Amino acid sequence: MSTSEVPVPEPQEGEPRSIVLIGPMGSGKSTVGAALARRLARPHVDSDHFFVARHGPIGDFFRDHGEQAFRTEEERLVAELLDAPRPSVISLGGGSVLSTATRERLRPHLVVMLDLTAEQALPRLGDGSSRPVLGDDPAARWAETYAAREPLYRQCADVVLDPADGTIEQRVDTIVAQLDRGRRARSDD
Ligand code: S3P
Repeated sequence: MSTSEVPVPEPQEGEPRSIVLIGPMGSGKSTVGAALARRLARPHVDSDHFFVARHGPIGDFFRDHGEQAFRTEEERLVAELLDAPRPSVISLGGGSVLSTATRERLRPHLVVMLDLTAEQALPRLGDGSSRPVLGDDPAARWAETYAAREPLYRQCADVVLDPADGTIEQRVDTIVAQLDRGRRARSDD
């Protein structure tokens, strides 16, 4: 059976449609998203992967078209993912929340921010080829983007996870527990 044929449980009445992971570069949105999707038997989609599948490497796109064109296309692709009726786990690129339209589109979903410190993030950023916003001074640029975006992440998030707390599976447990709490609260209404 291919992934697309695996039956996906429908969200219950009033339940958030998808679970969306947001947060800074290096926070583990893709890894936690994949593990959470396995646990919930839902599809996992990653906006960066979706972008690359349509347009090729993000670094090349930035070089050829500039950041503004990237943001415009990112907003369009993220809208496709967030508006899809199928309940999924969705990992968003770290800059997605810069878009007002995207922040609005997050409302029907359970939004989880993966927070972390610069010390935790920097060793995880790799060679930076898929993160052109980091330029040639990743430490300074990461800190600047974090400072600018942190209020947006917190404004959108229903749950904030500190990646210092626990393993990937423990973070998945926390998110699943949050979903269950929401279910119980709704059934008590
Ligand atoms: C970006 C983060 C990247 C990717 C792109 C821009 C950003 O995704 O979308 O390089 O502006 O923070 P990750 O958050 O998955 O690294």
